[in-house]
Amino acid sequence: MTQETYIFASHLDLAQHIRKESAGLLQARLSDSLDLEAQLKQAHWNVKGRDFFQLHELFDKLHGEIEDLTDTLAERITTIGGIADGRVQTTSAKTTLYEYPLQAKGGAAHLKAVAAALAEFGKHLRADIDKAAAIGDADTADVFTEVSRAVDKQLWFVEAHLVEE
Ligand SMILES: [Fe+2]
Repeated sequence: MTQETYIFASHLDLAQHIRKESAGLLQARLSDSLDLEAQLKQAHWNVKGRDFFQLHELFDKLHGEIEDLTDTLAERITTIGGIADGRVQTTSAKTTLYEYPLQAKGGAAHLKAVAAALAEFGKHLRADIDKAAAIGDADTADVFTEVSRAVDKQLWFVEAHLVEE
């Protein structure tokens, strides 16, 4: 099932061992990101209650943004010579996000579930910024920075709904 990170030969001026390590970091977040896409659709489809329509729309907007960021992570892997593994089997085996609660019903339950997933994803991304920088791959660190900045903003949007007025 799991395979050694494969790296194609490239004229890119990053050593193969650096590209291999970066591809491993990126692949871990790619699995998370694909899981998060599915989680946001889960929220989009199943949320109920008085705020149904705006949350239904919000979760779909967040899904669209995460879809683009997933592409950014995957294409950084292929840019540095790796194989982006977007198979559902890999995503299921490797995601580090919490399993989405199937019974979530009202807006607050979905907002809390989505907030937990975004916070967990953001935490891992922030750690990866430093890891990529430490191995000498500033561009991959920049990708993680771009994704984590967007995810932090999403968390703000979601958490703002949970503040008592
Ligand atoms: Fe839809």
